[in-house]
Amino acid sequence: MTLKPAAVIEDYVRRSIRLMAFQNSMPTWSVFFEPRPEFIEWCAATFDKSTCIDCGCGKGLLVSLLRHRGLDAFGLDICPPTDAFVDDVLAIDAPLFAYSAHMTAFVCRPCRGEWIHATIMRAVESGCPVVYVGKQSHYASDLEPLPYKIEHVMDGAGADGESVWLVTKNA
Ligand SMILES: C[S@@+](CC[C@H](N)C(=O)[O-])C[C@H]1O[C@@H](n2cnc3c(N)ncnc32)[C@H](O)[C@@H]1O
Repeated sequence: MTLKPAAVIEDYVRRSIRLMAFQNSMPTWSVFFEPRPEFIEWCAATFDKSTCIDCGCGKGLLVSLLRHRGLDAFGLDICPPTDAFVDDVLAIDAPLFAYSAHMTAFVCRPCRGEWIHATIMRAVESGCPVVYVGKQSHYASDLEPLPYKIEHVMDGAGADGESVWLVTKNA
């Protein structure tokens, strides 16, 4: 079944109680996506004119590496950690952020939940491409139902062999 962006986003925004529920159930943070240099170089070559936003950035390792490579990057997380690699993680529910066409959103190793589809749809509908980084086994649930153009970019982007797809609006 193909999802309808307006319905998914509206449904998500109406259930704002999830923010509090999620914060109460997130006691610890780990780094999941550990980017390899090849991935950072691809980002530098592809998004040098863009603001990179890591949605659900957790400890912010990707943001830190992109900044070191000279990119404009920041992270947002519904529940920012106290010991992040960067000290300016925005505390916000990712589907509620105001994405725009001069940005590129990253969704890397997301924990399960409706926020994945809602975030990607909110960004893509705003003209903001999405870089999804995850395990091949999550492709079917996270990306396949989306009514967008999905291009495979690379495998082996991180220490756990994550794959990368670029999600954009169909022409
Ligand atoms: C599995 S961790 C991955 C963190 C990071 N991307 C990494 O690879 O290390 C998922 C992160 O998504 C965040 N998250 C979950 N739901 C979110 C939402 N609705 N908006 C923003 N962040 C969210 C969690 O707080 C957590 O930090």
